[in-house]
Amino acid sequence: MSDHIKGCLKLDKSYHYGNIDERIYGSFVEHMGRVVYEGIYEPEHPLADAEGFRQDVMEFARALHIPIVRYPGGNFVSGYNWEDGVGPREQRPRKLELAWNSTETNQFGTNEFINWCKKTGTAPMMAVNLGTRGADAARNLVEYCNMSDGTYYSDLRIKHGWKESHNVKLWCLGNEMDGPWQIGHKTAQEYGRIACEAAKVMKWTDPSIELVACGSSNSSMPNFPEWDRVVLENTYDQIEYMSMHIYYEEKKNDTSDYLASGVDMDRFIRSMISVCDYVKSVKRGKKDIYLSFDEWNVTNAEQWEEKKKPWEIAPHLGECKYNLADAIVTGSMLNSLIRHSSRIKVACQAQLVNLLGPIITDSKGNAWRQSTYWPVFYASNYGRGKSLMVISESPKHSTASFDDVPYLDSTAVWNEPAAEITVFAINRHLSQAMELDIDLRGMGNCRLIEHIELSHDNIKACNTPDDHNIVVPKPGTGGVIDEGIFTGMILPHSWNMLRFSIEP
Ligand code: AHR
Repeated sequence: MSDHIKGCLKLDKSYHYGNIDERIYGSFVEHMGRVVYEGIYEPEHPLADAEGFRQDVMEFARALHIPIVRYPGGNFVSGYNWEDGVGPREQRPRKLELAWNSTETNQFGTNEFINWCKKTGTAPMMAVNLGTRGADAARNLVEYCNMSDGTYYSDLRIKHGWKESHNVKLWCLGNEMDGPWQIGHKTAQEYGRIACEAAKVMKWTDPSIELVACGSSNSSMPNFPEWDRVVLENTYDQIEYMSMHIYYEEKKNDTSDYLASGVDMDRFIRSMISVCDYVKSVKRGKKDIYLSFDEWNVTNAEQWEEKKKPWEIAPHLGECKYNLADAIVTGSMLNSLIRHSSRIKVACQAQLVNLLGPIITDSKGNAWRQSTYWPVFYASNYGRGKSLMVISESPKHSTASFDDVPYLDSTAVWNEPAAEITVFAINRHLSQAMELDIDLRGMGNCRLIEHIELSHDNIKACNTPDDHNIVVPKPGTGGVIDEGIFTGMILPHSWNMLRFSIEP
């Protein structure tokens, strides 16, 4: 019996899904745990700039080249009065924050977020509160952010010190409104109506904006996909995107099953596309509805110490310690996004720092990167261009939840202007390496630029506050190209990036 398995890929310039919308490499900043306070904003920290933004966190975020960041929630937004977070800081109210049982000081709000986005080199994606509020507060916020001047709310923004319009182009109509945990939870029909009416006045205020309606909170919701159908039937004419959210975690120590999570993500996306296309047909509609996967990540329920000490400011909440398996599943989720990029136009890793974060800050101390930072770093930096249709062959296996799971999980991106192809390849096998053949003849004359791998003998290895370099990218063994076919090896339970140039 061979000591390794074999996987093959075939790529061809003529077969692709079109250009990837770079916004699939977005992130998320919610007023929750230590994402804002002690995360991106900590005025007392020695590395904070004059506005209180932590420069170490910003540097790590900048390196991710994040095109868009969702704000301010999440469940938080469903109880949030945006007016509490603008104007002179000393007049901003301290409030009970019911979504996460904490105290919100409102020292950071919309305007600070916009400044942080500008300094970080990203664009804002804002959510409005359709839990405790509705169309009126939503349209006022759009006026405050996007109107240049001459009206009550635009002049209020100017009075607060922001002369230029914030020009926020992408807006979420609430958050996870199908969840009983949500402040102001609604039935699909109730939410569909309020989302439709809020959308109308938001677009009447600024016709250039794009809107996202809340889809199901995850693929296991009892009302999925019925919720989505009803919501979309109410909002089809007003919106551009339906939202999707999912968090995967390892259950019962079954790593093999966990590594196959991307299979569920693919299915979830295909179902959602079907719902969107069904409603388009019912409506005799002309436009496709696209998907905004505006919360996705890996998690670990055991590490959530939720609601233990009520009303803390910036509690240590959901600060998962991520291992190599978590990084591989992160890479697999990115593969799923790239594979479906003809319909997924926006996606946000939830969240940026501390809570579920690829970046961690020690209180008053260092910032450092978890294992899950790295697949996002490489996908965002090198996964831009056309998503190629990958013809893939791989041995398969069954796990507790899934049948016929290929050991090889891969995508490929063709950056035509740079004349480069990037292959993201995961070997899900826990003990056997994989010989990987990539047929590049349809791409021209190729040369390997680099092979980067994330691997470790121990799949549970993770970076720690004392050692940030346990699960970090390193050069792989590369391979040879013979008559247009690359052959190389990828390690057991590893994530890999192979980058090729197309020679003239
Ligand atoms: O990202 C953490 C939380 O998970 C968000 O607030 C909520 O929308 C989701 O359930």
